Amino acid sequence: MKTHAIVAARLSATPDGVPLSAAYDDVYHPRAGALQQARHVFLAGNELPVRWRGRERFVVLETGFGLGNNFLATWDAWRRDPHACRQLHFISIEQHPLARDDMRSLARDPDLAPLATELADAWPPLTPNLHRLAFDGGRVQLLLAFGDVAAWLPELVARVDAFYLDGFAPAKNPQMWQPRLFKAMGRMAAPDATVATWTAARAVRDGLVSAGFELQLAPGQGGKRDITLGRHAPTFRPRSAPARRIPNRPAGHAVIVGAGLAGCASAQALVEQGWRCTLLDRHAAPAQESSGNPAGVFHGIVNRQDGTHARLHRAAALEAQRCIARAIERDGVNGSASGLLRLETSGADAAGMQAVLERLGLPGDYVCAIDALHAGRLAGLPLCHPAWFFPGGGWVRPGELAAALLRRAGAAAQFRGGVGVRSLRRAGERWQLLGAGDVVIEEADAVVLANGSDALRLLDAPRWPVQRVRGQISLAPVDRLPARPRMPITGTGYLLPPVDGRAVFGATSQAGDEEATVRESDHRANVEQLQQLVGAPLDLPVGQLEGRTAWRVVTDDRLPIIGAVADPVAASVQGARLDQPRFVLRLPGLFVFTALGSRGITWCALGAQVLASAVSGAPSPLESSLLDAVDPARFITREARRRTASG
Ligand SMILES: Cc1cc2nc3c(=O)[nH]c(=O)nc-3n(C[C@H](O)[C@H](O)[C@H](O)COP(=O)(O)OP(=O)(O)OC[C@H]3O[C@@H](n4cnc5c(N)ncnc54)[C@H](O)[C@@H]3O)c2cc1C
Ligand SMILES: C[S@@+](CC[C@H](N)C(=O)[O-])C[C@H]1O[C@@H](n2cnc3c(N)ncnc32)[C@H](O)[C@@H]1O
Repeated sequence: MKTHAIVAARLSATPDGVPLSAAYDDVYHPRAGALQQARHVFLAGNELPVRWRGRERFVVLETGFGLGNNFLATWDAWRRDPHACRQLHFISIEQHPLARDDMRSLARDPDLAPLATELADAWPPLTPNLHRLAFDGGRVQLLLAFGDVAAWLPELVARVDAFYLDGFAPAKNPQMWQPRLFKAMGRMAAPDATVATWTAARAVRDGLVSAGFELQLAPGQGGKRDITLGRHAPTFRPRSAPARRIPNRPAGHAVIVGAGLAGCASAQALVEQGWRCTLLDRHAAPAQESSGNPAGVFHGIVNRQDGTHARLHRAAALEAQRCIARAIERDGVNGSASGLLRLETSGADAAGMQAVLERLGLPGDYVCAIDALHAGRLAGLPLCHPAWFFPGGGWVRPGELAAALLRRAGAAAQFRGGVGVRSLRRAGERWQLLGAGDVVIEEADAVVLANGSDALRLLDAPRWPVQRVRGQISLAPVDRLPARPRMPITGTGYLLPPVDGRAVFGATSQAGDEEATVRESDHRANVEQLQQLVGAPLDLPVGQLEGRTAWRVVTDDRLPIIGAVADPVAASVQGARLDQPRFVLRLPGLFVFTALGSRGITWCALGAQVLASAVSGAPSPLESSLLDAVDPARFITREARRRTASG
């Protein structure tokens, strides 16, 4: 998917105060009021709240988020309904979202005002991503897709129960009412999905009918005009690609192997989707291996092109910021999500760097370019390079974050420490996990392998290009530094604000090195790296430094591995479709989340949501093309392409 810079909406108003779009010369809602329209056309038109009653999950997809009134009205109706579905997912696509200040200052119906404040507080930077905002303890999930509806609809992975079509008038905004958009919606429609829209325009109705919707007209508000309501009743339902098939299983029990960041975040995300989890780890407590460092950083990236890596890392960083900020504020985790500096040592100056951001259209609340003086002021120590400043980046104690995520999962997640998993096997419809002497430790509907490089052993060594990369960090009394950094400084290596009175810096990177002992030579390398980072000699005797070693699990494309495990037998059958990861057949109920590389803190929150969506069938927080990029089956696809290319 090609992305474009997001241009915020320019709001004005009609003489009688109805919000108006300057670009489309049309009003956001009728004069009678946004709430009335939302309740009459979109809620009642989709037979809500009745249709969501008693359901585990209900999914709405809206075209045109606009001012968010339909979302707020739906959330409000869900809150007022004692029999509402357990979880409400609201997906909405918007090309011109409001700037955060406009979102805050909009006049709202009194019924919606408190929810509108929560929405404005959570409003994301205007980047061309899917932004997942969770409310009411995760029981209401808003997935905001910023960009053009035509680009987004084929990228969304969800089974939709109700469609709200709310573009501007078809004559002024024809892009929102194209037959191919309705076809894309038809592909996402759940059995019996409904559609509602305020327009009765002939072309819209014809397009919906040809996409398999049976329509009826209903009276509009105050008898003014007809509205269109419909139900999806296609004569033919195309089959989705195996990795895009949305499981229709009820929430069950998952066993997660590994209680590092990946495993604990997966437990929290699965519980949010209604699953029960058992988390197994060979250590007595969570986060004793890679996730056991005293502290680490999280942040986005800037690439010259907005390609797969840039989009993925940005999506991960934005989800991490939300998750970690909450862990710091509400769960008492040590860390900060109020900024991180990434020094630019290529020789580029701040003006040139800012020009890159402007060309990419990246907003200042995601990243901005600053000169060395400004960077030094923010950091609290002199710096000699310009920097990318990520206002939502920061640092955290990964072990505390993992523990907080596990606590958030509550009683539905059980941790069993001191349990090493030797192997796994399929037993009927379920999976069994075996320990020493082939004793069955646990049995479950789904298994998630979040156990670092050992996941490959449990999967019988698939041919994944993964390596273990040793890393040693160093810790020094903070008074040995010329000044205390106020925020993390990264570049070649990193330096963190004091953690327990010690400066944490590093780290080394040694592929294939399995030595666990802390080495003085590595401390020396870390000190040299730190001197380059801060641009000054430092008096840090290596003999007095403390350290810790751990291993990163890294793929050759530097992306994590997340999703359903491919069926190696089915993939080797003559004629099996292997041209894209999504077409490769899967082993039912077996999932993996590993290879978080040197960005496990940044990746754990989004990766866990992607994993939970694959297990539970909840809407995916990543678009289809990005799911392919982290799919475990991508290595099979690559190998198949190589075989084809070599004849
Ligand atoms: C030196 C260093 C510095 C780093 N700095 C940063 C940083 O600043 N920012 C950042 O984002 N990332 C950083 N990382 C990377 C980050 O630490 C990792 O990506 C992350 O911790 C990986 O989490 P995980 O849950 O996948 O793995 P782990 O934390 O290793 O968890 C895997 C768990 O599986 C368990 N396990 C394995 N096999 C079995 C089995 N058979 N049965 C039962 N249990 C099993 C293990 O005991 C372990 O608890 C750094 C890594 C290193 C090495
Ligand atoms: C009538 S308003 C939506 C009102 C909104 N549903 C609400 O509850 O406030 C129509 C919205 O469609 C958006 N839009 C127009 N063309 C679009 C396109 N091609 N892709 C995505 N959104 C688009 C507009 O920016 C506008 O916000």
